[in-house]
Amino acid sequence: MSIQHLFTQKDGIYLLNHSVGCMPASTRAIAESHFFDAWENGTPDPWARWFPVFAQFQQSLARLFNTDASQFCPQQNVSSGLSKLLSAFPPASQNNGRNVILISENDFPSIGFVMQQAKHSGYEIQFIKDDEDVLDTDTWKTRLTERVYAVLITHGHYNSGKLVPVKDVVSIARQQGVMSIVDIAQTAGVIPIDFTDWQPDVVAGSCVKWLCGGPGAGFLWVSKHILGNFEPVDIGWFSHQNPFEFNIHNFKYADSALRFWGGTPSVLPYAIAKNSIDQMREIGVKSVREHNVLLARKVIDALPASWLVSPAEDECRTGTLVVNPPNRDEVEARLNKLNVHFDVRKRGFRLSAHIYNTPAQIEQVISAML
Ligand SMILES: Cc1ncc(COP(=O)(O)O)c(C=O)c1O
Repeated sequence: MSIQHLFTQKDGIYLLNHSVGCMPASTRAIAESHFFDAWENGTPDPWARWFPVFAQFQQSLARLFNTDASQFCPQQNVSSGLSKLLSAFPPASQNNGRNVILISENDFPSIGFVMQQAKHSGYEIQFIKDDEDVLDTDTWKTRLTERVYAVLITHGHYNSGKLVPVKDVVSIARQQGVMSIVDIAQTAGVIPIDFTDWQPDVVAGSCVKWLCGGPGAGFLWVSKHILGNFEPVDIGWFSHQNPFEFNIHNFKYADSALRFWGGTPSVLPYAIAKNSIDQMREIGVKSVREHNVLLARKVIDALPASWLVSPAEDECRTGTLVVNPPNRDEVEARLNKLNVHFDVRKRGFRLSAHIYNTPAQIEQVISAML
């Protein structure tokens, strides 16, 4: 079967993979067997068949990112995972002078909104400014001072396509005694990621974009050495070491990352996402990336260099090309006429080619742009 047949194809040329990846063709069958049929026919109740879904989701993520399944906690999205993490931060006054949370002006706004809630616990929020170079490790060395408690590192910037050297930044943070929190929403599924190699403290991500896993299946990953320090406030019975103990006077945090879970979880998003993650692993994230770079290079080489907003070097760019033609309205109209699906942000057009996009499609896009 061709790669194209593994995914449902939309009319036109779909380049919105930084937003929502295309649905795997097997998704409806998975929803039927793992959710609806379990609901209808599962005995004694659907949970007998729904419960395994979560462990399978954790295992698929663990294989994808080369780490341990028990370190993942299902979350609805990145923001919810980080909110729960923040609810477990100690008051800033108890950190021996480390009372700063470092974020960037180019983090995804929702993530910035969440991180700024740390002000309620006495933290000062410092921003890496738009004009500071996040690709240069010296920027991070300067900013990661002895006053910083935690740093939010966005692996792939949504608005510029910049790919931050996470492994180096995490290493600087570690040397400085700063907790590293990495957002991989824009890179999971298109950039090969190895948590064992990175050694971050916390990672948050979702499956809706390049992993083609649909909305609602986010995750929080917490390193083993730091997990015990966290006692989140936002919890539920699924955060308990033994959810079925049912003793209202004895809440005990789960030993694993599941302490960040909550009340009765949704099931369908994780069943769907697990199937998508496995499909993406079979295809190989490395192959997705090579194909993505091949198609991006065609566009970069064809367009005037002055149009390019994202980095020209492949190793500094996410899966998204941001281009800003001077005759923006005209080019936008031509792309729309060709039925290209893309979006327009302040800095330019975002074009994100996945494994199912073809060189022929990209040639058409280039012709329409010039
Ligand atoms: C870098 C980044 N982080 C996070 C998100 C989404 O966060 P959430 O899953 O909380 O909606 C996006 C969405 O585009 C993003 O680009």
